[in-house]
Amino acid sequence: MSGFRFPEGFVWGSATAAYQIEGAAKEGGRGPSIWDTYSHTPGRTLNGDTGDVAADHYHRWAEDLEQVAALGLGAYRFSISWPRVQPGGSGALNQVGVDFYARLVDRLLELGIQPVATLYHWDLPQELEDAGGWPARDTALRFADYAAGIVGALGDRVHTWTTLNEPWCSAYLGYASGVHAPGRTEPAAALAAVHHLNLAHGLAGRVIRDLAPAARLSVTLNLHVIRPASDSAADNDAVRRIDALANRAFLGPMLDGAYPQDLLTDTAAVTDWSFVRDGDERTAAVPLDVLGVNYYSSTLVRAWDGVSPRSDADGHGDSAHTPWVGAEDVDFLPQPGPHTAMGWNIDPGGMTELLLRLHREYPDQPLMITENGAAFDDVVAPDGAVHDDRRVDYLRRHIGAVGDAIARGADVRGYFVWSLMDNFEWAYGYDRRFGIIRVEYDTLARTWKDSAHWYRRLATTNQLPDA
Ligand code: FCB
Repeated sequence: MSGFRFPEGFVWGSATAAYQIEGAAKEGGRGPSIWDTYSHTPGRTLNGDTGDVAADHYHRWAEDLEQVAALGLGAYRFSISWPRVQPGGSGALNQVGVDFYARLVDRLLELGIQPVATLYHWDLPQELEDAGGWPARDTALRFADYAAGIVGALGDRVHTWTTLNEPWCSAYLGYASGVHAPGRTEPAAALAAVHHLNLAHGLAGRVIRDLAPAARLSVTLNLHVIRPASDSAADNDAVRRIDALANRAFLGPMLDGAYPQDLLTDTAAVTDWSFVRDGDERTAAVPLDVLGVNYYSSTLVRAWDGVSPRSDADGHGDSAHTPWVGAEDVDFLPQPGPHTAMGWNIDPGGMTELLLRLHREYPDQPLMITENGAAFDDVVAPDGAVHDDRRVDYLRRHIGAVGDAIARGADVRGYFVWSLMDNFEWAYGYDRRFGIIRVEYDTLARTWKDSAHWYRRLATTNQLPDA
């Protein structure tokens, strides 16, 4: 794919999320979120890291937007912190918080960069968790209310509104395996969370349509590419089960207006799904202008033999509790290397496969890669540079894989690298660096890594550089 020229109008961007970069956790009237509580709980994050300061983007946002512009990018994906805008998750908006995002959006527009705003990148106001969190239906209604407030304020100055980022993580890592906030390990609650996230998406999506008719509507899913260890019927059935939990639990309601029957049957021993009310699935199926896809690595499964130690490792941290609710008969196999610093296997072909699957199943649905990137143990050279060849190689191969999918018919409109800069990588704290810009956490200085220079060449030429 070297030399591949992307279609005219293809959007190159970079992505971040509020809790991972902003810091200023107690400034400007911001309330606590589940990630403040979780990261401040001993033992929950690596080295006890928290997002209190993060990359200090709350104070350095103007400088950071200059970097986006200097990279030659056409779009910037960021998230709005719900507890900054509506500290307790209900009631009046906090004007200081709204103003922060209004300034950010206005400056992006001045720089000619499309603002792509995610309403929820995992920072639920703590008060709403105390009232039940995502397993409670009311949280979906609160989310629609928050959406009405902030979309009312920013409206169609935002080019693309994204309702949720990776509801798979919010539901299963937050409420089943507990490796993400709020750290609960309740399988039935995780499935209720899946549903209320789908409902929240639909309700907020309709609010966005009404209040910002000129803006584009999207959602971002971390769809899994799942392969069987053999072509046996049992291993293929393991793929089907994980595909239902990981992918079709969201694609079903959001794009088809219904949960897949096999998901309901597979999980019948965990829940009767009675929290799904008439009309909810249709509500979730609000038409999308673009479906956001996050892709990092692939998954290899087999039917568990019932004897050998079973792994449910999904690359998101160890837990005694599985995120794969109701799929205790599926074994997750270690993947051949090479791996990134997250331990995730490097599988660019999975990117092409995923995009072609979506194109086949939803031929009229435009797609966008809203995250892709890699953590590596970066080394600062004596001259201060970061020669992150492995990240450049990862990006080149994955972006090439996007090009492959486009050449084979997939309607992919853009690509956002994760991430603009090093940041708080959730349970892994500051130990895992995904940025194309390095952040020195003691001085908070920003430095372009080689990958940033490489990405700039790509974004400004629309063509995959040869080297
Ligand atoms: C995704 C998240 C993002 C970041 C990357 C590495 O799951 O959406 O915030 O942590 O993984």
